[in-house]
Amino acid sequence: MALPDDFLYELKTRNPIDETVSRYISLKKRGKNLIGLCPFHGEKTPSFTLYPENGSFYCFGCGKGGDVISFTMAIENLDYMESVKLLADRAGIRLPEQGYDDSAHRLRKTIYEINREAARFFNSYLNSPEGKIGYEYIKGRRITDATIKRFGLGYAPAEWDKLTKRLRSLGFNYEDMVTAGVTLKTKSGSFVDRFRNRMVFPLVDLRGNVLAFSCRKIDPEDYGGKYVNTNDTPVYKKSHNVFALNLAKNSGEDYFILCEGSMDVVMLQQAGFKNAVAAWGTAFTPEQAHLLKKYTDKIVLTLDADEAGQKATDRAISILNAEGMDVKVIRIPNGKDPDEFIKHYGKDGYDRFKALIEGAGNDVEYRLFKAMQNKDLTTAEGKAEFLSKAAEVLAQLSSPIERDIYASKLSEMYEVSKDAIMREINRGVRSASKERNQKQVRKLTEMPTVDRINPERTKNTRAANAEEGLLAVLIKNPDLIPFANQHLSTDSFITSFNRRVYEVISELHADNRPIDLVLLGTVFNSEELGRIVSVTVREDARANSKEECLTCINVIKEENSKSSLNGEETDDGDLAEYFKKLAEQKK
Ligand code: CTP
Ligand code: MN
Repeated sequence: MALPDDFLYELKTRNPIDETVSRYISLKKRGKNLIGLCPFHGEKTPSFTLYPENGSFYCFGCGKGGDVISFTMAIENLDYMESVKLLADRAGIRLPEQGYDDSAHRLRKTIYEINREAARFFNSYLNSPEGKIGYEYIKGRRITDATIKRFGLGYAPAEWDKLTKRLRSLGFNYEDMVTAGVTLKTKSGSFVDRFRNRMVFPLVDLRGNVLAFSCRKIDPEDYGGKYVNTNDTPVYKKSHNVFALNLAKNSGEDYFILCEGSMDVVMLQQAGFKNAVAAWGTAFTPEQAHLLKKYTDKIVLTLDADEAGQKATDRAISILNAEGMDVKVIRIPNGKDPDEFIKHYGKDGYDRFKALIEGAGNDVEYRLFKAMQNKDLTTAEGKAEFLSKAAEVLAQLSSPIERDIYASKLSEMYEVSKDAIMREINRGVRSASKERNQKQVRKLTEMPTVDRINPERTKNTRAANAEEGLLAVLIKNPDLIPFANQHLSTDSFITSFNRRVYEVISELHADNRPIDLVLLGTVFNSEELGRIVSVTVREDARANSKEECLTCINVIKEENSKSSLNGEETDDGDLAEYFKKLAEQKK
């Protein structure tokens, strides 16, 4: 990345990490650092830490870390250059005229254009004589012309390559169409439309960009699943987006209705519930919850009544709870989805669904209801089973008052002493908090068993610890880098991630450039930066000295020779090499 160092420095100084982060979350002082609830994963106790001293952040919960630029990339969902631009704008400094690579930005722009043209094409095809089948299908689902327009619905032709040809005639190249996800390259090397003979729902983001398409089969005999959706592309991440949020955010309601499918959203909105959104399928994610939370903290969940939908409901509840959101759950009678329900009641649809919303239990009631399912409450065993499940549910509530209220209710309803219920709950509370503590301790003391950033770490902890010890000293005292270089070659590193860090800081230093997260951030991604920050802030009282360097270097060398002695090279029978190495070690 060719942005000048001076510019990056100014950018960083003019956007102090604490000021930048506190635009998004609230922070509390702890010593010379600041802590807060991590904006990147759901948590109730703060493990997100800011180090104003060197302008870095690190989350002990999810491992994200870095500097003000990587923070902005993650929280605003922007790429590197876009984040730099945003920060420069905020600080009122000008970007250097030339000398940076904006190809990623250009590609995104092209994809937005392709998607927009595709959405236009699908919509106008729907309204053309050739698109009659699609139009009839949509009409058959009781969708009005006004709704078609509001959502920009469309129809993808049954032919092989109508859209691809159209985009080609507009001057787009095949590669970009494939990257956008609207075109496929066949084995024979030709290019065909990805969506054929399907009703099209475009997903539009909050700035009005078309990000993706979800396309429903209209002929049951046709290819593929019921829905075919855009996979992740440079402008779209399925797990980070919500369908119809662009419309729902202006509904004027103080809650969202979260459903499974686009058809549910379209029908609910048509019936008057302009606050309906969908997560497209069952795998609701923390990122989606986070996005919704920007607008409201109240959610009415109405996922399908089938088994997959029930599981999805449980999952969504815990994700939404973790974001601190208020959840109510609608149970639609007879296993219908919102679309079927609205259609069934015709013009009464609105009032009927409204009644369901008003009667919706909160998440606790929903869980209690589930605990009751398949239990015969007329028998003593059935009742006992239910109550112990119910106590489990209530034990998860963080408010003692709430626990008490539900315990009273249960005691009245089932004629069991409230004390007995409370005892059961308290037992659950104690074991839950013990488990939480153990988890916390594990999280803080251990690296994860699968280490995605430095996979060799788990098998080479002694070496990795020494490597990290050395890196920590060198990053804090770059003056010692030449000394380290003299005594330790890059090849001696055992774990490849640490080796890369060593290489990068050695090169930076050789170029007379400072060792700073701003510069490291141009080479490493946010998770990797997080690891680097965590290594440098680990508080194990390491003396920042030559001696410490040497100690670490010796351990690395020792481990390295061990591993090469046990390694495959020796199996090849190259004994001369082997003895040479042994002799070197003895020196
Ligand atoms: N879905 C998907 N791929 C599938 C099936 C479903 O991506 N093969 C997603 C779609 O976003 C769909 C949602 O899961 O909207 C719910 O699926 P389902 O309940 O099967 O579809 P409906 O929304 O009820 O669609 P329809 O009423 O048209 O049958
Ligand atoms: Mn349906």
